[in-house]
Amino acid sequence: YQRENFWKQNEGKAPLFNTDPRKMEERAKEKLSEGGWYYASSNAGMSNTHLANRQAFYRHRLIPNQLIDTNNRDTTTTIFGHKVSAPIGFAPIGINKIYHQSGEAAVSKVAGELNLPYCLSTAGSTSIEKVAEANGSGPRFFQLYMPHDDELTVSLLTRAWESGFDALILTTDTWQLGWRHDDVASSNYAFYRGFGADLGLTDPVFRKRCKEDGIDPDVDVVAASAKWIDSVWHGRAWSWEKIPWLIETWKKISGGRPFAIKGIQSVRDARKCVEMGVDGIVVSNHAGRQVDGAVASLDALERIAQDVGDKIYVMFDSGVRGASDVVKALALGAKFVFIGRLWIWGLSIHGEDGVRHVMKSLLADLDILMGVAGFNGVEDFDKTILESDPKNY
Ligand code: FNR
Repeated sequence: YQRENFWKQNEGKAPLFNTDPRKMEERAKEKLSEGGWYYASSNAGMSNTHLANRQAFYRHRLIPNQLIDTNNRDTTTTIFGHKVSAPIGFAPIGINKIYHQSGEAAVSKVAGELNLPYCLSTAGSTSIEKVAEANGSGPRFFQLYMPHDDELTVSLLTRAWESGFDALILTTDTWQLGWRHDDVASSNYAFYRGFGADLGLTDPVFRKRCKEDGIDPDVDVVAASAKWIDSVWHGRAWSWEKIPWLIETWKKISGGRPFAIKGIQSVRDARKCVEMGVDGIVVSNHAGRQVDGAVASLDALERIAQDVGDKIYVMFDSGVRGASDVVKALALGAKFVFIGRLWIWGLSIHGEDGVRHVMKSLLADLDILMGVAGFNGVEDFDKTILESDPKNY
């Protein structure tokens, strides 16, 4: 698909913009408001983990093979029962309207078109139902920031399931936002509250809660949005004891569809997920935005996949900037990779078309890499295709 269409579609036309991640980042900075830029770009502390995420990729190099017939190569894979175009999905990202007014609807529309999984964040600025409509028949998952209000959680999960979101991903590394200097210095927390928190404001249980507090969510939108943001990033940790309740609740609502945990960085926690009957994990450090000095996500992946890779569906994110990074993560044991900042930059630079351009370029990058490096499908990605040298990078 990419092979046939990508070059043809650009024939005679300059591409919309240069998809070099460094150049996209510069352009996004020019386009965004200060608050938007800080939200998208800030990392925890001194960005040590953000940098470590990138450095980990440099410690592994691909070993291409020549003269292999790759003319019928296939980038597709299967995730949670869906056959998709590539082992690449849209990571959940909050408050998309900060980047572009078209917000989550534009992003999920592109995901549906490309047949790549879309994961909607609880911190979304568009209602669950509108995102589903824009996504069409594409596979879609719901990422939960779990409120301390079970009735509200059940309401969100029910809406998600009824709108065709057929896997649940609980994020466990962000009960509150990490210490991000730029965000703190610019009082960005107040800035977030100013954005339409439509996902929450359209929820019947949340609306009831607003009214109990004397807030009319249709009139006092700013106060209601602030209340919503506070129930998403509430700062009160959940513990493992709550997980069986969530699994049972989701399985009941969805008739047994998959449940995964995002934010796993240790073998200990990965084993705990296996023990508890969790279907999948996303090895992730939230792009280095939560714990500065935390291990690189790719290093955590290697250890975790080695330990539990045959017992649970292992997914990965944090620091992926191109197709070769996708291939390295799969070679180290991930079955699937999520992308965050790359498509955020696309959305910031050029709205829906920008997201489409970035993701189609990534698909073309993967397809071409496979073609020239001797890979025919995701089953070819294993440790034998890597030269790994932890000291030399
Ligand atoms: C995120 N991430 C995130 N994760 C999540 O579970 N819910 C969310 O609402 C958000 N929001 C969010 C906003 C922004 C601006 C960023 C950069 C990240 C984390 C995200 O899902 C993913 O883990 C990382 O973005 C992956 O790393 P890369 O691809 O951005 O390097």
